[in-house]
Formats: sequence, structure tokens, C-alpha cells
Amino acid sequence: MTPMSGNHTRKPSAERIDSEISDLNTRIRECRLCRLCEGRTRAVPGSGPIRKLELLFVGEAPGRNEDLQGEPFVGAGGKLLDSILGMAGLVRKDVFITNVVKCRPPQNRKPQSDEIEICTANYLEAQIKLLRPKLICTLGATALDYFTGEKQMGRSHGKLRSTKDGIPLLPTYHPASVFRNPSLKALLEEDVKKIPSILRQLDEERRTRQEDITKFLSSSE
Ligand code: URA
Repeated sequence: MTPMSGNHTRKPSAERIDSEISDLNTRIRECRLCRLCEGRTRAVPGSGPIRKLELLFVGEAPGRNEDLQGEPFVGAGGKLLDSILGMAGLVRKDVFITNVVKCRPPQNRKPQSDEIEICTANYLEAQIKLLRPKLICTLGATALDYFTGEKQMGRSHGKLRSTKDGIPLLPTYHPASVFRNPSLKALLEEDVKKIPSILRQLDEERRTRQEDITKFLSSSE
């Protein structure tokens, strides 16, 4: 499947998606499958629209503020993300934001590979299947590595590729990395500003595919 061709297996009904997401959120909040549950205040399933989702952002893990509030990207990194979304004409309420792991690692250390494996196999993969975003945008090296196995953000950011299931994927920097290295802000902005035109191109491709199918069906009547 090409990066732009998307995923076209049959979509579950809206009611089923609502109820399965709500069950999944409950399981995430009560999860005790790995050691991260021991230090958390709240697990953070993620937030955003669950029907007709265009864009899914995936960060690394909740930080201190997220752990206290149970919501993703509510600290300084979240404010920066909101402002960069605004520059691209996007608003947070229209996008779903989640993380590779749903509980805060101690002292904000990087999530370990078994934590990532357990959390994604049980939760992130199920979220993606239910939400069926048109585009996934990864924030930072942990999410990039999880989806693509690539380790070098400098080489990978801003280049469209697709997940193993054929969902278009755009990697970019983590907002927190801008606090450590302010020169990355321009690159993060540049990447996020590509999103509206990628979404338009995906819509165009879908329309063309639909027209081709209609033409084919009417010619074979
Ligand atoms: N960093 C992340 O990767 N995710 C959050 O939700 C907050 C900070």
C-alpha cells in the first residue's frame, strides 16, 4: 500500500465505536499490566473526537501535569503544541491526542521496551483500529521508533510514510525537544504546516478511487 492510499476495511458503526472507546478508556484507567501503574496518579487514555477522526497525534508518555489531570499534553509542551496547531489552521478539539504509553514513567524517564510493548499491544493498537484516523502524526523519537523502527528524527521528520497497516504517517519532533533546543521549533512548525495539504491530498485520492470504482461498476453492468 502506498503512503497515500489509506486503509479501507469496513468501518464499525458510530455507536459501536463510542462504546468500545469508552470500554477501552476504562481498561486503560484501571490497567495494572506493567510497573508504570505503581507510580501513576491517573492513566491518560487520550482525548479528542472519536467519530470521523482526521488526525491522530501520538506522543511518548504522560508527564507530571498529565498524570495529575488525566489529560494528554496539558503542560508547557501542550501549550506549544496548541500554538503550532494554530499556525497550521488546526485546533485541538478537532484532533485526537494520545501517547505510546498511557501512564507516567518515574521522573519522566523514557518508557522501557516491555512497557511500550504491553501498552501498545493492549491499547494504542486498539485505539487506532477504532478511531481509523486519516493521518497519524508522531511527536518525538519514541513514537517514531514504535511505528517505523527509525531512530534518527533528523532524517525522518516531515517525510510522509505509512504504518504497517497502511495509515499515512507524518513524523515530527516532540514539543518538549524545542525547550531543550529552540532551533527545532521552526522544523516542528514546518512539519505541522504540511498537515492540511496532506489531508486534502488524501481526500482527493479517496474521491478519485471512488470515481474509478463507480465507473468500473457502471461499465460492467
Ligand atoms: N509529553 C508527552 O509525550 N505526552 C504528554 O501527554 C505530555 C508530555
